[in-house]
Amino acid sequence: MTLPTLPAGCRIIDFALRGDERGSLIALETGKDVPFDIRRTYYIFGTLEGVSRGFHAHHRLQQMVVAVSGSCDILLDDGKEQVTVTLDRPDQGLTLPPMVWHEMHDFSPGCVLLVLADDLYDEADYIRNHDDFMALVEGAAA
Ligand code: TYD
Repeated sequence: MTLPTLPAGCRIIDFALRGDERGSLIALETGKDVPFDIRRTYYIFGTLEGVSRGFHAHHRLQQMVVAVSGSCDILLDDGKEQVTVTLDRPDQGLTLPPMVWHEMHDFSPGCVLLVLADDLYDEADYIRNHDDFMALVEGAAA
């Protein structure tokens, strides 16, 4: 994973690798590896070549994203700056706080993105239009 300056609240967390001669295992626990109570988990896989995903921010949802297999680039946009992070390690997670616009690009074949979230799915929590996102960021700064 590359390490540019990330938006506030975005953090790369290194997980303890519990490996032995048989292979590797990673356990993620609320309060230890994940800085919020996990209420939902989902995973994105089978993404077709050239397809990008995401293109939204959340009002309140906190998430953590892990490339458990393969890699993709995630663009993070706090309304002021945009940075792209490559997710390519199963032993690192990227925290994704509310009000960070994100887009996932350049999925490798077979990429599996695991996402942990602190709340159930709620479409009303999504901001799916970038102009609306910018208006909210600028409104909060005014
Ligand atoms: P979408 O938000 O478009 O995915 P992405 O941000 O990765 O591009 O979600 C795809 C569909 O799945 C959409 O119809 C909403 C639904 N969905 C759920 O039902 N539950 C969930 O937890 C998530 C993340 C999505």
